[in-house]
Amino acid sequence: MDAGDVGDDLAKVLLTEEQLHRRLDEMASEIDADYAGKELLLVGVLKGAVMVMADLARRLHLPVEMDWMAVSSYGSGTRSSGVVRILKDLDADLTDRHVLIVEDIVDSGLTLTWLLANLRSRGPASVEVATLLRKPSATKAQVEIRYTGFPIPDEFVVGYGLDHAERYRNLPFVATLAPHVYSA
Ligand code: PRP
Repeated sequence: MDAGDVGDDLAKVLLTEEQLHRRLDEMASEIDADYAGKELLLVGVLKGAVMVMADLARRLHLPVEMDWMAVSSYGSGTRSSGVVRILKDLDADLTDRHVLIVEDIVDSGLTLTWLLANLRSRGPASVEVATLLRKPSATKAQVEIRYTGFPIPDEFVVGYGLDHAERYRNLPFVATLAPHVYSA
């Protein structure tokens, strides 16, 4: 899917495919260096993190295992509440493992705060976070994020895993959505 397939639904391309890939190269080099000599368990948070997970994991030279979690945050509309329910738990046992949570976006930081506490209670050697995008509100939540791809403004973004009503996840870039789409 590309911009031409979604009519006038997009306001502006925020991050091109090339920018995303270049930054993922840098993040992967950093992760490779930080975890040299260790084995890493990548935990992707469904569904948004699918693209980041696939592209980041392929750039790593480390031996990695990939596992997935699906969580649902009770909230009103687009805002999460911090009350999280596990829809699909990990298959892996985290005891003594080095865990890296892979996220597409951190917005309020509430999902991640809950996830960090949950995974840290399972006896891992370490738990860190890599997120492609980070909104300004995440800074306020003071959630510890070790690797950030791009800080982005507080706008409604879609593409590269991010959806609006489950659409646009398969765009290869990140774009802001035209207001007529989300206010419809
Ligand atoms: C997104 C994203 C994070 C969460 C961040 O998932 O993938 O998990 O929201 O928001 P927060 O920082 O305000 O808690 P979403 O609930 O949209 O599900 P999806 O990945 O299936 O689209």
